[in-house]
Amino acid sequence: MSASTLPNATLTATYEAMTPGSAALATKARTLLPSGIAHDSRHFDPYPLYITRALGPVKWDVDNNKYVDYFGGHGALILGHNHPTVMKAVHAALDRGTHFGACHELEVRWAELITQMVPSAERVRFTSSGTEATLMALRLARAYTGRTKLVRFRGHFHGWHDHMTSGHTTHFDGTATSGVLDGISDNVLLCDPNDVDGITRIFNDHKDIAAVIIEPTGANFGKMPVLPSFLTLLRELTKAAGTVLIFDEVVTGFRVSSGGAQKALGITPDMTTLAKIISGGLPGGAVVGKKDILDWLDFKVAKATGREKIAHPGTFNANPVSAAAGLATLEILASTAACERANAYGTAVRAKMNEVLEEEGVKWAVHGSYSGIHIFTNPDNADIRPATFDAVKFIPTMMAKTRGEGVTGQVRMGLLVNGVDMNSGPSGTISAMHGEEEMAVTVDAFRTTLRALKREGTIA
Ligand SMILES: Cc1ncc(COP(=O)(O)O)c(C=O)c1O
Repeated sequence: MSASTLPNATLTATYEAMTPGSAALATKARTLLPSGIAHDSRHFDPYPLYITRALGPVKWDVDNNKYVDYFGGHGALILGHNHPTVMKAVHAALDRGTHFGACHELEVRWAELITQMVPSAERVRFTSSGTEATLMALRLARAYTGRTKLVRFRGHFHGWHDHMTSGHTTHFDGTATSGVLDGISDNVLLCDPNDVDGITRIFNDHKDIAAVIIEPTGANFGKMPVLPSFLTLLRELTKAAGTVLIFDEVVTGFRVSSGGAQKALGITPDMTTLAKIISGGLPGGAVVGKKDILDWLDFKVAKATGREKIAHPGTFNANPVSAAAGLATLEILASTAACERANAYGTAVRAKMNEVLEEEGVKWAVHGSYSGIHIFTNPDNADIRPATFDAVKFIPTMMAKTRGEGVTGQVRMGLLVNGVDMNSGPSGTISAMHGEEEMAVTVDAFRTTLRALKREGTIA
């Protein structure tokens, strides 16, 4: 079933008619899991989809509806679902054993390739997630500098540990979010992205800044873009102050280019946090960077210098199955034009979706960089045209609106009932497997969604 079989039904009624299996699972899930979900981004009214299988750029739900997938494993699947080479490596690793409780050869080869691909990576420490990577990066920076403060940018996401919660989607004044100690948020300094005066003032006023962390293409993979000139300024300010500059490349790493945003932009941070693509669609992450900094994890160096080593256990760090998937994925990215292919699709699909906006006379914009798509639904009805839209100017508007609320949820619903899954931004990440067919479905789904929203009176 699809929207075309129910031409006059509301989007919500169509969704409900298409997805009875998801509805039933969600009803049961709500009795077991808070909100019935395992990740906040899966919260969706009236209920989220339940997916059973996926292949390349598409996936199917429990009711056998097919979707072009822009969720992309939360950005982890630059090679799409079930890439044959990656799956072969995973199956071979599974057959050898899922956990040796020991070092293994794949982790060495995986780390070697990472140091060859990522400019800032002199040393690698594997973690089990991006959240763990940013947690360790901050701890390393504090130990290395002997300082306390962390500078972050409003709207930027770095995982969910205590230092990273305020100023992401709420608490823009820097106060602690529920369950976080004031003492922690007191050591986090928030700045607006691209605010040259603001960041200069912070560095003038505070001499105890251990680290600055930033998503290098901007919050939510470039939804709220960071200007390259601002990154250059950050590099200069941190260098002069002896502060550790951390690029959070959990999304952009191995995606923007085979060496991440830092390679594409030619700016090398002191440390980089990685996850998602690094482990080829399985759980994993890493903090990489200067040897001098990662030496705080080294037993021999700690003994020689008399300083206290940073402890770092973690049952699933460099798990052999994740290592196999990660190594197979990175080998493909290092030797093919997969990132460039995903980037080219991004440029083309954004342009085509913007043509639809012009044709339908809707004052929105589809924007983004590299392999990202973001639909700006213009909540304040500003006088914009897609061709001249400058997302930087609308960062305050984007920050003020909670994702998934109001029209954005309806856009997602419209895309879903027409066979396209994006997150509630609405935003998406593209894989190297997306091609002409997926582009056509996406553009059609966007047009049909706009028309349905006009029919329902959601947009003029
Ligand atoms: C930029 C960025 N940093 C960190 C994280 C946290 O990674 P994880 O979900 O693996 O903990 C994410 C997750 O989406 C992210 O987008």
